[in-house]
Amino acid sequence: MIQESLITAAKLASINAYAPKSNIQVGCILKIEPGEQGKGGIITGVNIETHGTDTVHAEVCAVAHALTRGYRMHDVVSLTLWFPKYAQPPCGACCQFLSNFFKDDFPLICAGPDGVIETTLGECLPYAYKGRKR
Ligand code: THU
Ligand code: ZN
Repeated sequence: MIQESLITAAKLASINAYAPKSNIQVGCILKIEPGEQGKGGIITGVNIETHGTDTVHAEVCAVAHALTRGYRMHDVVSLTLWFPKYAQPPCGACCQFLSNFFKDDFPLICAGPDGVIETTLGECLPYAYKGRKR
């Protein structure tokens, strides 16, 4: 799937976000290679804002969605984000969360109405906490 299609998919996914507090609807797409199970494709995630509990960020939602559906994280080859205001990379907490599953060279495609930022997880959070000596 080419980058433009991934961005379109992330934008479409953002329609399903639940963001009554900020009104910022974020969409996330994990691109998954077929791998040993033979099921590739894309998995969506959206942000979910609630009262009294922590907001779920779209990136965390996408990983939860993929794991729940039985996908293996080592088959995930990229993450694409759509922010409705302007392109921006995942927040620090999401980068830390993602670093549990993906290496420093994991591609992040961050899109918005103003353009695309192509970066990597390691570029966004070079010293992610690993719980062990580097
Ligand atoms: N948001 C995400 O979904 N991912 C991020 O990495 C940054 C922020 C969401 C959380 C909140 O619902 C909205 O964007 C505005 O901050
Ligand atoms: Zn985040």
